[in-house]
Amino acid sequence: MESNEKVPYVLTGKSYTAVAINAAAKAGEWIKSKLGMHEQLSTKTSAQDLVTEVDKGAEQMIRRLILTHFPDHAILGEESVEPGEAAAISALAEAQDEEYLWIIDPIDGTTNFVHGFPFYSISIALAHHGEVIIGVIYDPSRDEMFVAEKGKGAYVHGARMAVSGEERLAEGLIAVGFPADPVVKLPINLRGIAALAPRARSLRAGGSAALHLAHVAAGRLSGYWESGLNAWDIAAGALLVAESGGKVTDTLGESYHLGVRNIVATNGALHAEMLTVLKESDATGF
Ligand code: IPD
Ligand code: CA
Ligand code: CA
Repeated sequence: MESNEKVPYVLTGKSYTAVAINAAAKAGEWIKSKLGMHEQLSTKTSAQDLVTEVDKGAEQMIRRLILTHFPDHAILGEESVEPGEAAAISALAEAQDEEYLWIIDPIDGTTNFVHGFPFYSISIALAHHGEVIIGVIYDPSRDEMFVAEKGKGAYVHGARMAVSGEERLAEGLIAVGFPADPVVKLPINLRGIAALAPRARSLRAGGSAALHLAHVAAGRLSGYWESGLNAWDIAAGALLVAESGGKVTDTLGESYHLGVRNIVATNGALHAEMLTVLKESDATGF
């Protein structure tokens, strides 16, 4: 090659996982520096549905980092979709057939973030023709990076994760959620919570769907169920749980896909029991 010939700039090491980890880490560091110090707090679909300038700024940061490496890829990010279930469903319908689709929740657990309660996460997934192939969830409070690649397992701090071994719901520590829609979704979840509480060892509601899933993958929770979620709450965590040997379905027991909004993710062993309790208590969300 002639010395004066222009060498095109080619990015090397285009590892999707590395880009996802880098974006989650950078956004997480910035979000953590703003914990409890947001300047603009607004509501979306209800008084409980919060958003701050940090949610929006973090999504922009993650988008920029992804597009620097993969300018042709599509991105579905919570803060770039109009609030509400109908808009979320149609945004996913439009995007899900893209060859490469990144699915981002810049802060999962905004209510916790607003209150300074250190349980929130950054969730980034990459889907290829609608199938999640990379899932990264970062917990800035504990500096835990949960990473899964389809077919290659799931890891935290470089250590392979595996779901827990409890065999019955009575031995299980189960996470649940209190969705921000007090009219339709909350009553559904409250019915399931009332039915699960006396049957499980105990229930927890941490306030971050993505972190609940990461903790199921890590074997720290036996299961998690919530009705009324969006693709960005679940996509990365579903892969983490599956790659850790767990089971992820909707509340009717159908296999996970990007459109699932009512999720059950468990260690596998107590999955059927949870599905039965949710069905009997009319808490499937269907
Ligand atoms: C919420 C959290 C919460 C769950 C809600 C979600 P956000 O996401 O995951 O745990 O109960 O249903 O909407 O609004 O903090 O990104
Ligand atoms: Ca969320
Ligand atoms: Ca969010």
